[in-house]
Amino acid sequence: MPLQYRAAVLHAAKTPLKIETVTAAPLKPTDVLIRIKAAGLCHTDLEVIEGGLRFPMPIVLGHEAAGIVEDVGPAARGVKKGDHVILSWNPHCGHCFYCDRDLPILCETYLGEGPKARGFDGESRATRGDGSDLQHLMYLGSFGEYCIVPDQQAIVVPKEIPFDRACLIGCGVMTGAGAALNLGAIAYGDTVMVIGCGAVGLAAVQGARMAGAGAIIAVDLDDKKLDLAKSVGATHAVNASNGNPVEFGKQQTGGRGVDVVIESAGSPAAFRATAEAVRPGGHIIWLGKVDVQQDVSFRWGSLMQEKRIRRSSYGNTRPLRDFPMLAQAYLDGTLKLDPLISRRITLDDINDGFDALKRGETIRSVIIFD
Ligand SMILES: NC(=O)c1ccc[n+]([C@@H]2O[C@H](COP(=O)([O-])OP(=O)(O)OC[C@H]3O[C@@H](n4cnc5c(N)ncnc54)[C@H](O)[C@@H]3O)[C@@H](O)[C@H]2O)c1
Ligand SMILES: [Zn+2]
Ligand SMILES: [Zn+2]
Repeated sequence: MPLQYRAAVLHAAKTPLKIETVTAAPLKPTDVLIRIKAAGLCHTDLEVIEGGLRFPMPIVLGHEAAGIVEDVGPAARGVKKGDHVILSWNPHCGHCFYCDRDLPILCETYLGEGPKARGFDGESRATRGDGSDLQHLMYLGSFGEYCIVPDQQAIVVPKEIPFDRACLIGCGVMTGAGAALNLGAIAYGDTVMVIGCGAVGLAAVQGARMAGAGAIIAVDLDDKKLDLAKSVGATHAVNASNGNPVEFGKQQTGGRGVDVVIESAGSPAAFRATAEAVRPGGHIIWLGKVDVQQDVSFRWGSLMQEKRIRRSSYGNTRPLRDFPMLAQAYLDGTLKLDPLISRRITLDDINDGFDALKRGETIRSVIIFD
C-alpha cells in the first residue's frame, strides 16, 4: 500500500495553496523517505506563488526543512532510519564542468533538471490523489508530511537540535552565515556591514561574528529588524531611511570604507550602497534578488579600486560540512536561531503564513508537523 500524506499544493500562480492527500512514489535505490517535522516559509517559495519564478504545476513547494529518516533505498549512503536530518536543496552530479571546479551550485544537472521540478532522473517522487502528475520544488517539496530526496540531500545533524530551529539552517541561515564564513574572507577584527536584516541578514551578522569580525554594522529600514540584529551580535545599527550607512561605515574605518559588505535586502538601493560602502580591495557579497530582467545601475567610480564582487546562492555551502557545524554552533550557544522564528504554524495555516511574509511581518514562519 503506497504511502499517502497531506501536502500543500500550488495549482496556479497567485492562487492559495490547497491541502491535499498525495501519494509517495516507490523509493529509487538512492532515495530517502523523510518524515518532515518542521519547514520554514522562504521568499523563494513566495516568488513561485506570486508568479515571479515559474515552475510546472501542480507543485509542492518548500525547500527549508528538517525531519526524521523514515526509510532508505538499498543503495542510499550516509543516512539510516531514525536519523535526524536537515534537507539541502543543492544536489549535484559530482562530475560535470562546474562540479569539478568546486561550484556545485552551478552543477549542470542541477541547473538543467531544476526547472522541471522533479528528480535528477526526470521522475516525480509523488502523485496527486487521483494518480495525476505532481511536481516538487528544488528536488524537495517539503510542505507536506513526507518528502522523498536523494541521499545527498539528507544531511544528518545531532538529535539535540530541535526541528523548528534546525530547518532554518536548510536555506536562509546557511545562505547568510555561509556568505560570511565561506565567501567574505573576513579577517579577525574586520569591519563588516550587513544590509538587510531578515532571516538571511540576521544569519550573515552571526556568520560575521563567528568569523571574528570586530565591528558589525547592521543596516535596515525597520528599527525592529535592527533591534534583532543587535540581539544576535551587530555592534552598530543604521536605519537607512533616516541615516547614511555609507558615511557611517567610513566614520568607523578612518574614511576607508568597510572591509566586507553583505547585501541581503534584495533592493537596487542596497546593491548600490554595497559598492559605495566597501573599501578599495574589499569584498562585496550580494545575496538578494531582484527580477532577473531588471537593470540595476551603479556609479562607475564606486566599482573601481580592486573591489571584489560576488553574487552567491546558498553561501557557497557544502552541506555535509556546514549543516552539522551550524547545528553544533546552535547547540553551544554561538548561533542564535530562536529570534528568527516569528511564528509557529500548522500546514493548514500556510496561506496566512505567506500573507504575513509578503507584508514583511515575519522573519520566518515555521510549519510544525506532529
Ligand atoms: N542568494 C540566495 O541563495 C538566497 C537565499 C534566500 C534568500 N535570498 C534573497 O535574499 C534576500 C533576503 O532574504 P530574506 O528572507 O532575509 O528577506 P526579508 O524580506 O525577510 O529581509 C529583507 C530585509 O531587507 C530590508 N531592506 C529592504 N530594502 C532595504 C534597503 N534599501 N536598505 C536596507 N534594508 C532594506 C527589509 O526591511 C528586510 O528587513 C531576498 O532578496 C531573498 O530573495 C537569496
Ligand atoms: Zn529559501
Ligand atoms: Zn555537476
